[in-house]
Amino acid sequence: MKIDFRIQHIDPIGQGVSKEEAAVTFIKKTLPGEEVSAEVFSKKKGVQFAVLKDVKTPSADRKAADCVHYSQCNGCDYQHTNYDKELEFKKNALKRHMFKFPEIPITVHGAKRRLGYRNRLQLHYDKKKRLLGLLDYKQDILPVPACLIVDPSVAYELRAIYAENNWMRLVEKEPMKGHLELYSKDNNLGGHNVKVSVNRPYANGGFTQVNAEMNERLRFWIQKKAEEIIPPKAVVYDLFGGNGNLTVKFRNPTLVVDKYRTTPQPSGHQKFFSLDLYDKGAIKSLINLKASGYPRPDWLIIDPPRSGLKNLNEFLNEFKPDGFIFIACEATSFTRDTLGILNNYELKSVEIFDLFPSTQHFETIGIFTRRANSV
Ligand SMILES: C[S@@+](CC[C@H](N)C(=O)[O-])C[C@H]1O[C@@H](n2cnc3c(N)ncnc32)[C@H](O)[C@@H]1O
Repeated sequence: MKIDFRIQHIDPIGQGVSKEEAAVTFIKKTLPGEEVSAEVFSKKKGVQFAVLKDVKTPSADRKAADCVHYSQCNGCDYQHTNYDKELEFKKNALKRHMFKFPEIPITVHGAKRRLGYRNRLQLHYDKKKRLLGLLDYKQDILPVPACLIVDPSVAYELRAIYAENNWMRLVEKEPMKGHLELYSKDNNLGGHNVKVSVNRPYANGGFTQVNAEMNERLRFWIQKKAEEIIPPKAVVYDLFGGNGNLTVKFRNPTLVVDKYRTTPQPSGHQKFFSLDLYDKGAIKSLINLKASGYPRPDWLIIDPPRSGLKNLNEFLNEFKPDGFIFIACEATSFTRDTLGILNNYELKSVEIFDLFPSTQHFETIGIFTRRANSV
């Protein structure tokens, strides 16, 4: 049943919020001030979720989405408004998480391209239903042959595997339900080298950032910052460093630590160490490196997965670095992990790098330096 709602504001994950009915209602793809009709599909103790059916009074900031799948697909969140507005919502989202640091200005680095950037896409399949796609609001599989967020080579491959249900051949010997991953190894360089893996873990060949252009800007920015604030001979540990992406342009001696072995980028100043940083003994293993001649770190670069690094304080208490740069793809873990360390470290600056345009996601980067009176 359709019900009318008035949207008051947008929450930090891009959903419109209406508090007019007895319950608080979250409706994706709406804008503040809009009057909409929507259908409730999930309800629990005063909170409900509804799917947009009709916009009765559109906001002046509304625009038609470019992608034909947008109204049903859960992959994108902001195609119904312009990019400046999207960045404003993202900045407000981070401000809400960072209410403990009201005085710190947030610098936003927007992307040149809002669409056609993702070099990696995971799709769910169900052989019995003959469905392949992304999930919709009900977590059902929605076919997305014309997805616009992927880069041109992934888009080409996507059309090819949907044509005549070609994907069914790829999963012939696989379980009834599972996933496919399309990954372009070209990084938008105009070639066509797309790998398709079936039922392998996400980023199975080793983690790489999904937005090559924004990754390049982020790397350049970190390099410049490092040159300004990290003395040339200081030792850097690049924790959750993957293939050394973020520190590849540093001049400092750098130890890249990651659980998974990936093909390192060629560079003389980086060494690689394989370690599960969530393991209880991880800090001890890093301390023991001293015995093998690797000095303790003066600075840390920390770029954990979405779950963050809950025991960040233990790393800082042990190594007492002069500072660290924390990169988080989840703003909630950025604030959760760093709030507990503020007695000893001062937050100097915060940036948003929009590596995920059109979606609710973005990278948050904070630079922290050790206080003179730290213990
Ligand atoms: C957000 S990515 C950052 C990678 C890298 N900094 C980059 O820019 O490409 C997170 C990294 O954490 C690594 N990782 C995941 N779980 C880990 C664990 N338990 N211990 C160490 N590294 C882990 C992943 O392999 C991935 O490379």
